[in-house]
Amino acid sequence: MVETALPSKDDLAAAGLRLEVEDAVAKITLSRPERRNAMTGRTWTTLAHVGHTLPPSVRIVVVDGEGSTFSSGIDLAMFSPEGVEGETSVLQNIGDDAESRSALDATIAGYQEGFLWLRRPDIVSIAAVRGHAIGAGFQLALACDLRVLADDAQLCMKEPALGLVPDLTGTKPLVDIVGVSRAIELCLTTRTVGAAEARELRLAELVVGGSELDSAVRDLVSALLATSPEAAAATKELLLQAPHNSLEEQIVAERRAQADRLNALARQLGG
Ligand code: CAA
Repeated sequence: MVETALPSKDDLAAAGLRLEVEDAVAKITLSRPERRNAMTGRTWTTLAHVGHTLPPSVRIVVVDGEGSTFSSGIDLAMFSPEGVEGETSVLQNIGDDAESRSALDATIAGYQEGFLWLRRPDIVSIAAVRGHAIGAGFQLALACDLRVLADDAQLCMKEPALGLVPDLTGTKPLVDIVGVSRAIELCLTTRTVGAAEARELRLAELVVGGSELDSAVRDLVSALLATSPEAAAATKELLLQAPHNSLEEQIVAERRAQADRLNALARQLGG
């Protein structure tokens, strides 16, 4: 299905989400505080829907959680035979035949869509994390370009403790940020990383007191909005390629991107 309009307030609420869009800034709030912002399959497919339909004017996406916890990860009721109301249990329709595997593959790919778009070059995404970011919650924070943590933040990749793997796009950014050895240690011990260690490991760009989280994010948003949208998008695209490119490939990419920029600026100046 190709969505053309943002999800309605009711659809967002059913997915445990709130969305505010104001000019260049969209704020997505995980909003099931009574379940510590646990997420379901619907949360992730609705996040994907938001990503597909955000107005092009949006340049910054802030993801935060209502209340004291960013997110307790997957709603554990998803693993009960009855599942979450209105959604199928994770345990339903599991089979080792090709058809079942292909259906599961498509379901997880749909969930991953909810995380992937946060890396798009035309936006900068910021996770504002207070309290726990567990499992899928940690992966959602990792899906964002930048993480601002309150000093009570606690990050934990809990999936292996449940007999599972982190499959919501989190393993790649985790390894990119902390390296393979530390990622193995964090994931296989499922230990919790506090805010101070998260900053040391570069899992946080900024750690602030809890009462300063919102203002710190606002300041960051203002600073990010100071650059031109086109230059910001082209620069983010270059930076995203850099880890995969050789120096030779990267400098060619820089020249190409700069030629595009200069041409665009010349067109602007020429009226
Ligand atoms: N799913 C469903 N309900 C949850 C939940 C979750 N992930 N986390 C918390 N809740 C519910 C609790 O059951 C409790 O409900 P009741 O009020 O009905 O008893 C309510 O939210 C409040 O929870 P706590 O009293 O435990 O709140 P706390 O602030 O003391 O602790 C917490 C918060 C540390 C997040 C703790 O609730 C916790 O550890 N939750 C479970 C975390 C977890 O294991 N998540 C799964 C990770 S794996 C994953 O996400 C990815 C994957 O694909 C498998």
